[in-house]
Amino acid sequence: MAIERTLSIIKPDGLEKGVIGKIISRFEESGLKPVAIRLQQLSTRDAEGFYAVHKARPFFKDLVGFMASGPVVLMVLEGENAIAKNRELMGATDPAKAAPGTIRKDFATSIDQNTVHGSDSLDNAKTEIAYFFRDTEVQPYTYRK
Ligand code: CMP
Repeated sequence: MAIERTLSIIKPDGLEKGVIGKIISRFEESGLKPVAIRLQQLSTRDAEGFYAVHKARPFFKDLVGFMASGPVVLMVLEGENAIAKNRELMGATDPAKAAPGTIRKDFATSIDQNTVHGSDSLDNAKTEIAYFFRDTEVQPYTYRK
């Protein structure tokens, strides 16, 4: 399996509920290491640009409004099969359809406020990571010997 990087966002509802630590623990316990991490208040423009692919969707305006409604945690997660693993940990987009034990099942309230975002492909992961992080802000993970 390949070592991949993926973009993870803990959305404003995750911060409001105070579950940043619990969510990051799930990533770490599954072997996904945060190699970049930043708390940020997105502007409307930031959110519109990030979700530009959804511009024509009926939920776009609400999505952008929600993502700019409070700070988010932006992270790059690194590990084996990181993109699929992160999506498995998150669960289905709609928390009502998410499997038991997933982040969205346990913490999210609705499809609009679904607590986390994760890249859905290698190409999108590269684009999404570059949208928020410069190369120098992503640290290769090192261990003390
Ligand atoms: P996310 O993975 O961040 O990608 C786009 C977001 O749009 C999605 O999570 C949901 O929070 C939100 N959204 C709202 N309605 C829908 C919908 N019908 N289908 C997909 N995404 C939706």
